[in-house]
This record gives sequence, structure tokens and C-alpha cells, in this order.
Amino acid sequence: MSKKPLILGIESSCDETAASIITENGQGNTVVLSNIVSSQVEVHKEFGGVVPELAARSHVEKIDWIVQKAIDDSGRKIEEIDAVASTAGPGLIVCLSVGLSFGKAFASALNKPFIAVNHLEGHALSPKLNSELNYPYLLLLISGGHSQFLNVQGLGKYKRLGTTIDDALGEAFDKTAKLLGVEFPGGPQIEILAKKGDPNKYDLPKPIFNKGGCNLSFAGLKTAILRITKNIKTDQEKFDLAASFQKTVEEILYKKTKIAFGEFEKQNNLKDKIFVVAGGVAANKNIRSMLTDLCIEESFTSMFPPIEFCGDNAAMIAMVGLEKFKLNQFSNLDHTAKPRWPLDESAAFLKGAGIILE
Ligand code: KG4
Ligand code: ZN
Repeated sequence: MSKKPLILGIESSCDETAASIITENGQGNTVVLSNIVSSQVEVHKEFGGVVPELAARSHVEKIDWIVQKAIDDSGRKIEEIDAVASTAGPGLIVCLSVGLSFGKAFASALNKPFIAVNHLEGHALSPKLNSELNYPYLLLLISGGHSQFLNVQGLGKYKRLGTTIDDALGEAFDKTAKLLGVEFPGGPQIEILAKKGDPNKYDLPKPIFNKGGCNLSFAGLKTAILRITKNIKTDQEKFDLAASFQKTVEEILYKKTKIAFGEFEKQNNLKDKIFVVAGGVAANKNIRSMLTDLCIEESFTSMFPPIEFCGDNAAMIAMVGLEKFKLNQFSNLDHTAKPRWPLDESAAFLKGAGIILE
């Protein structure tokens, strides 16, 4: 049996410093040998959001021992690594530069190929870390910076069907949390608070619900929450608002996903239709179960990465690295960080409106 590729992945696009070693088994299934993620929550907590300069400094301080730990935990030797894959964008340029420079230097020192990875492609391929996943599939990518429906036709081949025209869903969760006085990062906390509240207490707006195909919009929701929080006095009212927010988000996703299913079906004539939900917000259990039910109704197979691979991690970066390695898709060592790097470049400009929509 030929040696299976051993890939080191490095992620530093925002506030997680991460490294991972992955390979494949004899059946061609991915094996994650180590997955180290160091969060900077404590660094940014007092500022209520990510401070780029502090994030970059923290990446610099931690990256070497995080990579060392990923190698140690994998049980493999440094010289066995076949390629190094680093996130090159999109993200905060000062943060991206740390993992990218480290990865390039590491690959160069080992005399092994370097692979620049699009962070969003990492999310898109994250379910492959523990399951088989064949192209094409419909992807709903919901993270802190992006919310979009994509027809994934192959590695590097994305056709965007819809996107947010303002805030990303994770951003809406985080802003709502902040308005409710929940500590950063608040997204996961909203899910917990919502369990104690009445989802029908507040009637929140659903911007572009009845138009815009499968485009999304969450900014109006945030404005409504801001108005309501000014009059909130009790904890129960907070729980009710969190529950109403969670319910409204689910209603928006339910309707827009149904439209995206139709678009996907028009573009692909398939018997077996797969729907992947990835990104930090895909960790939300209610959203997972609502979308699972929708898939049953609409004869799609639903796929979610395990919770540990929803948020930012380096295993998903190594996953893209592995796929590219098998296709000999290597990057030059002069590859620069790309703060803006849409998966579907051709759709990133909204015709007529003069607005860049990623
Ligand atoms: O994918 P990710 O880790 O980073 C980006 O690439 O942006 O996503 C982070 C986002 C944050 O906005 C966070 O609040 C949100 O995902 N998030 C959640 C949950 N867990 C993380 N939002 C709702 N419910 C959750 N359980
Ligand atoms: Zn991410």
C-alpha cells in the first residue's frame, strides 16, 4: 500500500490559533491525528470584539508551540509531513500573515510543498473530516463573517446562489448577545438563553423575507433588538428576546433554504441531493434540527460537521490541503494574504447596485 499523505494545516485568520495533522486510511477516509485550537476569547473579552493587533500578537506568541503540539499529538515525526497548508484568506490581514508566513517558512525548511487555503473552502469541506462527501452539493455557510448558499461543484468550483446583503448571521448572533449584555463571544450563549424564553413574545422583522431569492439580510433584526432592549428590565424579558431572535432566524433560514433547494435542483439534475451546513453558526443545535427536518421534507440528505469542526480549526484547512495535494495544486512561496477572497469571484459583485457582496 502506498504511503498516505500527511498534511499539516495552520489557521490564524481571526482569533483562533490552530494547527492540525491529518491523513487518510486505507479506505480513503480522512483521519484527524491531531487538532489543536487555542482561542483568544480572554484576550478580547474586555473589548467586546476582536482587536486585530492584539489577535496578531497572540498568534505570534503561540503559533510555534501550537504547531509543535499538533505534531507531537499526531504521533508522527516532523520529517513524515508531506505538505504544509495555511489559511491565506479571507480574514484580518495582520492575523493571516502570521500563519501564512509560518507555514511557508515551515514548508521551505522541510523542503515540502506549500498550499495556500481559502478559509471558506475549509468550512465548505469540513464535513469530509468525518464522513464521505461527494460533489456536487448545496452548501449553507453560516459564520461570523459570511452567510451564503453555494452550489459546490468541485474543489475550487463554487457557484453562489445567495448571500447576505448586510450582516453575517454569526455577527447578528454576536450583536444581539452584546445588546442583551452577554459576554463576548455571545453567539453560543444566545442559544442557551433562548431555551428559557418564550419565542412568541416579540414579533421581530424578517428583512427581504418575501423577495431577493435566497439572499439573506439580518441588519434590520439587529436594529429591532436594539429598540426593544432599551425597554427590557427583567431577565425573563431577556430570555424571551433571545428566544424570539432564535425563532426568527430559524424562520428566515427555513424559507431561504427552501428557495436555495429549488435553485440547486434547477442547476443540477440529481437523484441524491446533499445539503451541507457549515461554519460557526452550524453549531447551533436548534438550527441543525430545524434544517434536518426540512431536508427530510424536501428529500435532501443533510450533513453537518461535528460541533468541534464547525468553528474555526486547522483540521478543515488541512482537509483542503489534502485534496489539493492529491491534485498537485501547490502554491508559490510568494503567495500573499488575501483579506478578501470570495469562493465565487464572479458573483462577488452585485450587478447594478455597485456593492461588493462576498
Ligand atoms: O466559523 P467561525 O468560528 O468563524 C468565522 O469564520 O467567522 O464562526 C464564528 C461565529 C460567531 O459569530 C459565533 O457567535 C457563532 O459563529 N456561533 C454561534 C454558535 N456557536 C458559534 N452562533 C449561534 N449558535 C451557536 N451555538
Ligand atoms: Zn471561519
